[in-house]
Amino acid sequence: PRKIIIDTDPGQDDAVAILLALASPDEIEVLGITAVAGNVPLALTQKNARIVCELAGRADVPVFSGCERPLKRALVTAEHVHGKTGLDGPVLPDPTMPLQDTHAVEFLIRTLRREPAGSVTLCPLGPLTNIATAMMAAPEIVPRIAQIVLMGGAYFEVGNITPAAEFNIHVDPEAAEIVFGSGVPLTVMPLDVTHKALVTPARNAAFRGLGTRVGVAVAEMTDFFERFDKAKYGSDGAPLHDPCVTAYLLKPELFTGRHINVEIETEGRFTAGMTVADWWGVTGKAPNAMFMGDLDADGFFVLLTERLGRL
Ligand code: BDR
Ligand code: CA
Repeated sequence: PRKIIIDTDPGQDDAVAILLALASPDEIEVLGITAVAGNVPLALTQKNARIVCELAGRADVPVFSGCERPLKRALVTAEHVHGKTGLDGPVLPDPTMPLQDTHAVEFLIRTLRREPAGSVTLCPLGPLTNIATAMMAAPEIVPRIAQIVLMGGAYFEVGNITPAAEFNIHVDPEAAEIVFGSGVPLTVMPLDVTHKALVTPARNAAFRGLGTRVGVAVAEMTDFFERFDKAKYGSDGAPLHDPCVTAYLLKPELFTGRHINVEIETEGRFTAGMTVADWWGVTGKAPNAMFMGDLDADGFFVLLTERLGRL
């Protein structure tokens, strides 16, 4: 199996992404989960990560707590989307598994030093603060990262937190700039893709129909999350942003995109955190990211539902 570290700010869609990875041990080995501040403050994201591991029956996965705030800015959160706890919807017990003592950034650095070069994939599902901090603190780990598959940014679908920017990149544009400039091969799941992974009522019913604790919890999570998206965007259901990352590791053929140059706006008056994606190749700058644009949504939900059914 491919070794990964999931860096995350759960979040209902983060939770589903983690569950999909933990449901797929033949293909994916989760070395650890590193929590970052994002959708809600760090104290909640690290707790939610442990709740999700226990829901999956995987209290053995080490969970680490990371950066409390973005590199240079005040934290922006998204309780308006995810609820007060970040994981509103299902009623899940408080976790009993411990939080690791090591800081998430230290874990990232140690793991990348220890594992063979090119063997560990990073999967960021929130603001890129932990990853950028590790890259700055220990630049020698950068060429050892196999690849980074992340959820963030937008092109045609532009912004969901400001008119120009997607949440994860907007929260910490300076961190995103470091990651996008790192030279590590990047695969990016922007809103253009994730807004096609919509939990329609039939797809929600399929989760519930699994009849398992995980299936019902996922249905309740996406029900909650859906309320926001329906009211706000009039969409068919909640977009499962972050699970696109773990689905890509399992079935890359579900996604299509272009290898292009992507720059991060860190200064714009109205556009901080915008992913300036050179989709048409007008700059002549070297590509630094496989920027996805489309998704086989039916294939995605078949895969997701079948895997969740294994937990
Ligand atoms: C991203 O922001 C968060 O609210 C979601 O968990 C996802 O990672 C979507 O813009
Ligand atoms: Ca997230």
